[in-house]
Amino acid sequence: MRVLIIGSGGREHALACALSRSPQDPELFIAPGNAGTAALGTNVDIAGTDLDTLSQFVHERDVDLTVVGPEQPLVTGLVDHFLHEGHAIVGPTAAAAQLEGSKAFAKSFMAERGIPTAAHRTFEASQVDAAHDYLDEHGAPIVVKASGLAAGKGAIVCETLEAAHDALHRIVESRDFGAAGERVVIEEFMEGEEASVFALTDGAHYVLLPPAQDHKPIGEGDTGPNTGGMGAYAPAPVVTGRVLQRVCTDIIEPTLAGMIDEGHPYTGVLYCGLMITDEGPKVVEFNCRLGDPEAQVVLSMMAVDWVEVFQAMARGTLRDLQLQTRHNAAACVVMASRGYPGRYRKGYPITGIDAAEELDGVTVFQAGTRRDGEQLVTNGGRVLGVTATGDLLQDALDRAYAGVERIQFKGAQYRRDIGKKGLARIPS
Ligand code: AMP
Ligand code: GLY
Repeated sequence: MRVLIIGSGGREHALACALSRSPQDPELFIAPGNAGTAALGTNVDIAGTDLDTLSQFVHERDVDLTVVGPEQPLVTGLVDHFLHEGHAIVGPTAAAAQLEGSKAFAKSFMAERGIPTAAHRTFEASQVDAAHDYLDEHGAPIVVKASGLAAGKGAIVCETLEAAHDALHRIVESRDFGAAGERVVIEEFMEGEEASVFALTDGAHYVLLPPAQDHKPIGEGDTGPNTGGMGAYAPAPVVTGRVLQRVCTDIIEPTLAGMIDEGHPYTGVLYCGLMITDEGPKVVEFNCRLGDPEAQVVLSMMAVDWVEVFQAMARGTLRDLQLQTRHNAAACVVMASRGYPGRYRKGYPITGIDAAEELDGVTVFQAGTRRDGEQLVTNGGRVLGVTATGDLLQDALDRAYAGVERIQFKGAQYRRDIGKKGLARIPS
């Protein structure tokens, strides 16, 4: 059994780790991978968007199954290409991946089908004057978003009208997010706590992973600019059993049925980015993949044969599977380079990963790392995800922070309040 994983972040290291626990003992290839995945399989220097070279590799090496981590290859049509070539792959087609790739598509899809989300209007770049008028009519707080892919940074929450006009200017007129700003979505500000729910689906059936919570802003107390995610934990108690039931009936089921209706059945991971409001769960965004760092916690918690689960998703036989957990809770603290999410330096030696992993339940997933000879060095903004499992959220957090204490690299920054919102909801 040979499995190819596409991607190079902490999520892909966690996927490689989860797949390597399969009793089917798969041989793993990771394209392009990172220094962490190199210990679990063979890194292959091919970009996720180089469809022909990937297909050739799968053909030559007799790869049985491909699992895609990030959004860009999906939006580019990797799944369409592989299915056409007859290669088994898990993930949505380009048309289905528009749920993430085009906020304009996702918002009108939800509006048409009554899926709860913030009220919105979409404007073309040529309608920027009308968009400025719309902001004046609605006032602040309000949210201005580039429609296309912007590495998670194209949504600007504006507390004042002045900030909103400025955001619109940056997205549409000065094109700070490039082509993602050809269309802009302006939407109502939703009040509440966020959570991420992942549905694994074969198009018709779905199963859920434990609800997780990300920490997007760089600063403690959710302050400062948004990042790719500075830490996560699961399960997130803000998603009670009742809330989860509504997520299924009001969001996931109409979305999967709606995509079949549109002629683009959705397979792969449907990531529901949610705001849990007083009126119930509402969609902040859909993504077409596992979240990162959320993947690091949810994959660590599960006691499943991931080869079997991914094969069932690709073959349409998910209905018969039940997912069991092996740990009650998990937490991940991201260690990032100083300066991230802005400019930062690379190449600083990293020490202490082995010492951290000697701690009970701790695994260190690598993201922005590379080998410089024998030495592991920093090579990105988010460098490591120190992840731990436990019986209780508090145990998992204590272990993860104990792991962080043992790791050093110059300029390391991390949030000290990961999981705080979750702990506040758990009666002691
Ligand atoms: P997005 O890229 O759409 O996920 O947005 C990034 C972040 O901006 C979200 O995780 C939220 O924290 C925030 N956000 C986006 N849309 C809204 C909204 N309508 N109301 C409140 N916060 C929002
Ligand atoms: N953790 C947020 C994301 O993966 O988009």
